[in-house]
Amino acid sequence: MRIYHLSAECYPVAKVGGLADVVGALPKYQCQAGLQAAVVLPYYDRKFVRENEFETVFQSATLLGTRRLFFEILKEKTNKLGFELYLVKIPGLVDRENVYSYPDEREQFIAYQLAFLDWISYSQQSPDIIHCHDHHSGLVPFLLYHSKLYTRLANTPTVFTIHNGQYHGAFGWDKLSYLPEIDLTKTGLLDWNGGINPLAAAVKCAARYTTVSPSYLHELTISSNGLEYLFYLESGKGVGIINGIDTEVWNPKTDPMIAENYTAAKASTGKLKNKEALCKRFNLDVKLPLVSFIGRLVLEKGADIIPEAIEKSITDNPDKINFLILGAGDTEIEKSLQELKELYPDQCNVYIGYNEELAHLVYAGSDFLLMPSRVEPCGLNQLYSLRYGTMPMVRSTGGLKDTVIDFGDKGGYGIRFDNTTVIDICQAINRAIAVYNEPATLQTLRKRMMGLDFSWDASAKKYIELYKSIKPTTI
Ligand code: ADP
Ligand code: GLC
Repeated sequence: MRIYHLSAECYPVAKVGGLADVVGALPKYQCQAGLQAAVVLPYYDRKFVRENEFETVFQSATLLGTRRLFFEILKEKTNKLGFELYLVKIPGLVDRENVYSYPDEREQFIAYQLAFLDWISYSQQSPDIIHCHDHHSGLVPFLLYHSKLYTRLANTPTVFTIHNGQYHGAFGWDKLSYLPEIDLTKTGLLDWNGGINPLAAAVKCAARYTTVSPSYLHELTISSNGLEYLFYLESGKGVGIINGIDTEVWNPKTDPMIAENYTAAKASTGKLKNKEALCKRFNLDVKLPLVSFIGRLVLEKGADIIPEAIEKSITDNPDKINFLILGAGDTEIEKSLQELKELYPDQCNVYIGYNEELAHLVYAGSDFLLMPSRVEPCGLNQLYSLRYGTMPMVRSTGGLKDTVIDFGDKGGYGIRFDNTTVIDICQAINRAIAVYNEPATLQTLRKRMMGLDFSWDASAKKYIELYKSIKPTTI
């Protein structure tokens, strides 16, 4: 079975968040299970691309409206990631450094999708499944089935995975001319609320859509930035499959990015060494419980209320708790965090920016990982923290609800709370302080967390079963 995964991100080539982790791991596990899974990514002028060897496997030109765009498909020569990696390069449009936020982002991702379709169409390939991730490749199912240019491929089954239903990639009908000749009786499939909506189009046209946790499948019908009714209507073809983690990259026993490697049997001493390294670097007292946060500083993650929650918690528990934040995003939130650090230099430190290596040390060296997310389709941070014996403190939503059991419940190991509010976070922190002061309980919980299996093995199988259940489309 040959599968093409289409995504804007893939670790370690280009990562902004968890989408990269998933697309960098799932195809590897699928290949290990005997499938021929490949990833097709837009080209980025980044370290991985500069430092590895690629060969040109296809060259042509595509049309974006009246613009004729030359493109190349480059293949990484050694399959070192455990799968075939292809990059779509379009000089001046799909060859820049950043993944997102260019003013012509719409054109960038439309051109990427057209070049991919032209490539597989002209090179006479017949993939068994095309698996699109998020709105950046959301037009592919529609174009496959309803553009005259790709009729040879119109039976290809497609799967669409929603990692984040808040972003749709919508644009106006004035850009319809960017698409190749399509069946004009089908334009309703592109439309939502009077615009072209790639996320909606993919949900309507793909043979199946998946969400990255079972709970999120249901939550999209309640909150998805205007697509609630669509998700309600299409729910018959939706499937929730929880993400896994790449246990080769995220393994405290072998991780080269942490201060000391450890296993579940040596969890307490191993974690202490990492905590010492972390606390030394950030000037924190190693004896106090350390609560950390890693992530994008945005409303979705509940990052806006973290400064107030930390301040209240420090005031309520003077000299009993430490905090460390690693993140970047909203400048107002960044500013409040910096102010907090100046106010409480012995109990709170902040690293504004993106630092993959430091993230590994924070997972290993912290006692608790706070995730007060308002929306969390899956969340990988809690899964990494469990693997490193760090207790996740999560708001009960989406994938957090599906992966973390409160330690007060049977077989539990984490701390859960119901609302993204200062009160709920502070109560969770009080519970964390209490557990920390019972070393025997903490040790048992750490062993339990590290014994959990969230590797991709089980979830990769679910995707394979899903692929097999889809019959070639007859449109
Ligand atoms: P999302 O994709 O919504 O940001 P996830 O929990 O799925 O959330 O994944 C976030 C990923 O990005 C994790 O691998 C996390 O370690 C990483 N990450 C987020 N912010 C940072 C940062 N500032 N520095 C390093 N890694 C980060
Ligand atoms: C998105 C979601 C996150 C999920 C990730 C990978 O970025 O916000 O919850 O873990 O995708 O699927």
